[in-house]
Amino acid sequence: MRTDIVIGCDHAAFSLKETIKSHLQSRGLTVADTGAHSEDSVDYPKFGIDVGRAVSSGDFEKGILLCGTGLGMSMVANKFPHVRAALCNDLFSAVMSRRHNDANVLVLGGRVIGDVLAMEIVDTWLDTPFEGGRHQRRLDQFDTIEDMTRESAGH
Ligand code: RB5
Repeated sequence: MRTDIVIGCDHAAFSLKETIKSHLQSRGLTVADTGAHSEDSVDYPKFGIDVGRAVSSGDFEKGILLCGTGLGMSMVANKFPHVRAALCNDLFSAVMSRRHNDANVLVLGGRVIGDVLAMEIVDTWLDTPFEGGRHQRRLDQFDTIEDMTRESAGH
């Protein structure tokens, strides 16, 4: 059976990650947890890389990343081709990141929001469809950026 969603965090959001994982499972989703697995201090890039790579490769359609602010994880995940990671510490951003940006990674700040809001954001994000149309045209332009990045890396 295909695993529905991949989730990762650092120590700063370990507790929120556990809460969200249980919440996802209670929604009937299967979850791949790439760690961290405790509140022992770790470096967040490794965990952002694991989830970014898993979504970028197509192994997972969607992922969730958490760190203290959500900033570091967003920066890491958005370095991967085809990853559209959206830091959403409020409900409006969660809705719009799906409707207009077809975000495939939701990023949350464990030191910014509480558990109840975080779960509302997760539910909203998972349940909001992409609108397509002119927004798809705009997302198609991301491919050009990825080409430009590859070209400049070659020089
Ligand atoms: C860890 O202290 C903190 O820097 C990290 O969780 C995150 O907020 C980085 O952006």
